[in-house]
Amino acid sequence: MNRTRVGIIGGGPAGLLLGHLLDRAGIANVVLESRTRAYVEHRQRAGILEQNTVDVLRECGAGARMDREGLVHEGIELRFDRRSHRVDFPGLTGGRTVMVYAQTEVVKDLVALRAGPLLFEAEALAADPDAGVIRYRHRGAEHELACELIVACDGFHGIGRASMPSVTTYQRDYPFAWLGILASVPPSCEELIYAHHEHGFALHSMRSPSVSRLYLQVDPDDHLGNWPDERIWDELDTRFAVDGDWRLERGPITDRSITPMRSFVAEPMRSGRLFLAGDAAHIVPPTGAKGLNLAVADVTLLARAIISGDERLLAGYSEAALRRVWRAEHFSAWMTAMFHRDHGQDPFEHRLQLAQLRYTAASDAAMTSLAENYVGLPFQ
Ligand code: APR
Ligand code: PHB
Repeated sequence: MNRTRVGIIGGGPAGLLLGHLLDRAGIANVVLESRTRAYVEHRQRAGILEQNTVDVLRECGAGARMDREGLVHEGIELRFDRRSHRVDFPGLTGGRTVMVYAQTEVVKDLVALRAGPLLFEAEALAADPDAGVIRYRHRGAEHELACELIVACDGFHGIGRASMPSVTTYQRDYPFAWLGILASVPPSCEELIYAHHEHGFALHSMRSPSVSRLYLQVDPDDHLGNWPDERIWDELDTRFAVDGDWRLERGPITDRSITPMRSFVAEPMRSGRLFLAGDAAHIVPPTGAKGLNLAVADVTLLARAIISGDERLLAGYSEAALRRVWRAEHFSAWMTAMFHRDHGQDPFEHRLQLAQLRYTAASDAAMTSLAENYVGLPFQ
């Protein structure tokens, strides 16, 4: 049987970063990823790195291209009542900012840096939390990998969580989804716009000075077939409409998808030799841009514990990670509730959202709370 110290299931951002942090500390590890390299490098997901994530990537030598090509953002815009309100991150948080740098690029950088074994098209079939053995299929044959520790970074649908003998899960499904597009057109704004509109939420984000990323709240059972390009742009125009000068530039749409929204947490994040990290343990709705950042926070904490060799740190991993997870769950659910329109929603709820948005825009205290959560609370 093959042996390693840490067997990592999943080569998304969580698994790849953990592997890299352990490589740098000289701790043998193997990353098993069920998909192809091209698939993981091109899967469109999030694009906002909070300050902690940027710091972690820089400190571990994975930040060079991010620093050259990423876009530092010092604020976001909240748009409602046909008016714009800026949230000034550095001014409200003692100088903290976020970086617009797509997850696809973080993944490419980490794959390129990889020193230890990283097997693509290697699907984990089972993980034994007591024995520390991963059974996996690679090139048509089944293998076993004996590990001191197993870390399941295999996303929401992975096998890691299912291999834990006892987990409690907490879940909330939302009555809406996001239709996301990538368009070959320069962003129509310098900073992200989060828009509240009676038709529903809209978000203007970006990937680079020539590529825009935009989202529309839609029903979870809606289909892309219902959304020809023209309808997407018209609806975006409607939801971003503002008094004064502003124009949404249109361009060719190069990627589109509809993603349902959910909040989910599994507790605890450890059983015996098996640890969970990233989407394997928790999902947040994308409104707070926290998914990728939580994955990075988990593996940073876990890497520190493994590298220290201090069993007390390993024993404390689940509790420490879950504190941060629940803060992000709250922030993401709060942002989601403030911006989205539930069709069954009564007019009372709509007015509560507007009252909260107006208060947030007018009060330094409320604005600071949003800003410090968005740029990410410092690690404990
Ligand atoms: N064996 C091997 N690999 C697997 C298995 C398996 N049985 N099951 C899933 N995987 C792989 C998936 O193919 C995927 O590449 O695990 C990886 C999990 O990656 P992500 O879903 O990206 O999860 P994570 O690394 O935790 O990243 C979390 O970043 O992806 C963004 O916004 C996303 O919030 C999310 C965050
Ligand atoms: C994105 O750019 O994909 C993005 C940005 C902010 C969010 C969610 C997604 O809140």
